[in-house]
Amino acid sequence: MSFDRSIKIAPSILSADFANFGAEIQAIEAQGADWVHVDVMDGHFVPNLTFGPMAVKAFRPHVKTVMDVHLMIAPVDPYIDAYAEAGADILTAHVEAGPHIHRTLQAIRAAGMKAGVALNPGTPAEAVTHVLDLTDLICVMTVNPGFGGQKFIDMTAKVRTLRDMIGDRPIHIEIDGGVDPTTAPLVAAAGADVLVAGSAVFRGGSVADPAPYGANIRAIREAAVSH
Ligand code: DX5
Ligand code: ZN
Repeated sequence: MSFDRSIKIAPSILSADFANFGAEIQAIEAQGADWVHVDVMDGHFVPNLTFGPMAVKAFRPHVKTVMDVHLMIAPVDPYIDAYAEAGADILTAHVEAGPHIHRTLQAIRAAGMKAGVALNPGTPAEAVTHVLDLTDLICVMTVNPGFGGQKFIDMTAKVRTLRDMIGDRPIHIEIDGGVDPTTAPLVAAAGADVLVAGSAVFRGGSVADPAPYGANIRAIREAAVSH
């Protein structure tokens, strides 16, 4: 995975057909997805429950791009090795998920993955000031995590602050929640390069009729690139 700051669209399979993940992953990649975003929820850190490392391991052979695993779980540390074993390329933990984000990011890198840190809407950019050199990606939540299809919360000021804090460091800024062709230009202009989108990618399409996935991905990308 070489670093670049061009716009990347990362469909969230939270909006996919849960009985057909392999085919859904293949469909979004064939339709132009740059990364595949995998939302892990534990029913504790967030009020919803999705899947764990065994399912993520089963997704792995279907992902030809980048498997971007977003942990909405607490605690994180006991599960890091399981997600490495499952084949995550990027493993993102929430700064709010425990008292030791510095240790967590070190452990993610030590397990051979890129380390991401996520910030809930109520958490300031400054929460990552002292872990920037341990971080490959900062995920700015633009909804309160737990569900797809929620309304975008404007976090462009936070994105701008992070962009300045990052300087020349090879750190991606990812936006997660409520991204569509209307909101994508706002966050791209503020300095984000990875746009997660669930409902705005999967709406209107299916494995049997995947062309809308491609049209949806292109619409988000074009809106972001031409901000
Ligand atoms: C929210 C998840 C998101 C979510 C985005 O808790 O982390 O990745 O799937 O879904 P949309 O794009 O529908 O807001
Ligand atoms: Zn996510």
